[in-house]
Amino acid sequence: MKAVHYLPFFASLTSAIWPLPTSYDHGDTVLWMSDDVAFNWAGTAASASNVGSRFLVLQEYLFSSFDESSNRKPKREGTEWQGVSGDDIIRFAIEQTKSTILKRNFVPWKFHPRGWSEPIAEGATYVSSITLELLGEDPPSIAKPLAGSVDESYSLTLTTTGEATILANTSLGLRHGLNTFTQLFYKHSSDGAYTALAPVQIFDAPKFEHRGINMDVARQWYPAKDIARMIDTAAYNKMNRFHLHVTDSQSWPLEIPSLPELAAKGAYRPELYYSTKEFEYLQKRAALQGVELITEIDMPGHTSIIHEAYPDLIAAYNIQPNWDTYSAEPPSGTLKLNSSDVDTFLSKLFDDLLPRIFPFSTYFHTGGDEVNKNAYELDDTVKSKDPEVLQPLMQAFIDRNHDQVRSQGLTPIVWEEMLLDWNLTLGKDTVVQSWRSDEAVASIVSKGYKALVGNYKYWYLDCGKGQWLDFSPERAAAAWPFQDYCAPFHNWRLVYSYDPLAGVPSEYHHLVIGGEAHLWSEQTDPINLDRMIWPRASAAAEVLWSGVKDAQGQNRSQFDASPRLSEMRERMVARGVGAEPVQMPYCTMDGEQCQLGLLA
Ligand SMILES: *[C@@H]1O[C@H](CO)[C@@H](O)[C@H](O)[C@H]1NC(C)=O
Ligand SMILES: *[C@@H]1O[C@H](CO)[C@@H](O)[C@H](O)[C@H]1NC(C)=O
Ligand SMILES: *[C@@H]1O[C@H](CO)[C@@H](O)[C@H](O)[C@H]1NC(C)=O
Ligand SMILES: *[C@@H]1O[C@H](CO)[C@@H](O)[C@H](O)[C@H]1NC(C)=O
Repeated sequence: MKAVHYLPFFASLTSAIWPLPTSYDHGDTVLWMSDDVAFNWAGTAASASNVGSRFLVLQEYLFSSFDESSNRKPKREGTEWQGVSGDDIIRFAIEQTKSTILKRNFVPWKFHPRGWSEPIAEGATYVSSITLELLGEDPPSIAKPLAGSVDESYSLTLTTTGEATILANTSLGLRHGLNTFTQLFYKHSSDGAYTALAPVQIFDAPKFEHRGINMDVARQWYPAKDIARMIDTAAYNKMNRFHLHVTDSQSWPLEIPSLPELAAKGAYRPELYYSTKEFEYLQKRAALQGVELITEIDMPGHTSIIHEAYPDLIAAYNIQPNWDTYSAEPPSGTLKLNSSDVDTFLSKLFDDLLPRIFPFSTYFHTGGDEVNKNAYELDDTVKSKDPEVLQPLMQAFIDRNHDQVRSQGLTPIVWEEMLLDWNLTLGKDTVVQSWRSDEAVASIVSKGYKALVGNYKYWYLDCGKGQWLDFSPERAAAAWPFQDYCAPFHNWRLVYSYDPLAGVPSEYHHLVIGGEAHLWSEQTDPINLDRMIWPRASAAAEVLWSGVKDAQGQNRSQFDASPRLSEMRERMVARGVGAEPVQMPYCTMDGEQCQLGLLA
């Protein structure tokens, strides 16, 4: 058996597995897979005998197709579902394992030299059994854990005689093990699927607890099925959080039954909103794949859209043409900061929304980025931009909101400005999401708060597309060549070079619970969505799962990562995801031709 990093490249580039496991040894024996392979799964201790049939109802609901004419999930009765169990997660993962290996796989010709011939099926050995064993009991909130409360580790062995065994302390660990197992197999061009890597011995565990993508679904409209595809793909990259930035100044696409005007007037078109059923569907689909969907209602800034339904709640609404004095993007506008009507509105909004989040998530994100103080000069409840006047009002605003979040059993997340610019006192349970700098992360953790990283210079996937603002003829020359604020485009190598712990003293490392890659949607919609996220977010997924450095403490080598990422790209494409190519086949076929910088 050889350790993967010593495997000579000329043997084969197909060594599989993204993100890279903690330890991974494999051989070169071929084993085949058939659809009657036995999965030995006894069920979790907690699973009742009727769970199987309940699961079938759920699975049918999740995989019933979307209505192509409306892009909506058909309405279904009898699929009410309070939460997701560990047993549901594993049964779902078993189904996905079979379909991934046998139906959504690829022929790996791009990873072998010209003239390569595939293994021959005749007289072949088949994988005979896949045994799943839970070593402990799942914590009660297995499908919506607080970061750090679930052991996600697993071990995987595959013998040359075809017995596979996956062991884990929790259902989520077993799920990750099955996910890894699928990546050992390739499609054969005539029929079937095989691995050429037996025997396999893997132990694996993630470096960070929170591994996510943040997707802005407010600035452009995305049908639920596009979000579902991104959630599925995040899960396949072993990410476990999907942050839905669901409202912003430009649209409110979320149905709130007790405040129906919000979506009726705030969606781009009356029908372009997520119904409560669809919102439940997305949360459920995520939970079933070990992904916690985290909903963000950004406030008090980024809320001008509320003006459409409730004009009295918003200050400095749509100031033109100098909107940039009052906000980061048009239309300007912010929730008033000293208004009992705003409190009443938020109380009603949270009362409606949070109980529908509670079955599927432990978190609720109350936003708080890019609040422009100038807007409060035009706020009739404040009439001031003096930080000394505003700060206590902002503190009261956050206190009210977070008290209600906690009273619904959820943990608040905020953007870094609430702590670092507004100097607010936050509950110690609060997770603070950073985006501006490594120094900001260091500052958050030095104050004792848990931090999420995602420095925009590395992990903003929208950067480098150029401006979306139109410049007047007088200003066009000065704005040439029309780059955006975070140009250039963040290629996968840049994403991959980001160290979440850069600049964080080691005594605070435990407070950096993970991070997210961000897709802001000013210039992305369903047409270019897939290629804007994949495979670059896969690079972030590996940093968060495997760490930015290897076991020797060195930066991970692009020589190793690049062919594996190319392979992961093929796997995503085989799953119907429009991920961009990483390299020419020429580079991956021979392995070393496209390397640069080795000493001669
Ligand atoms: C399970 O938990 C034990 C005890 O904490 C630990 O040693 C082991 O690495 C964990 N994971 C697996 C896959 O056994
Ligand atoms: C906030 O509103 C209250 C009640 O309307 C008012 O008495 C108070 O002066 C306001 N605070 C500020 C800073 O304007
Ligand atoms: C927060 O503290 C910083 C540094 O002391 C100060 O510059 C800033 O004005 C304060 N912000 C507010 C809103 O009080
Ligand atoms: C590792 O990567 C970081 C970030 O890109 C870089 O600053 C550092 O110089 C690299 N270390 C080595 C030894 O190349």
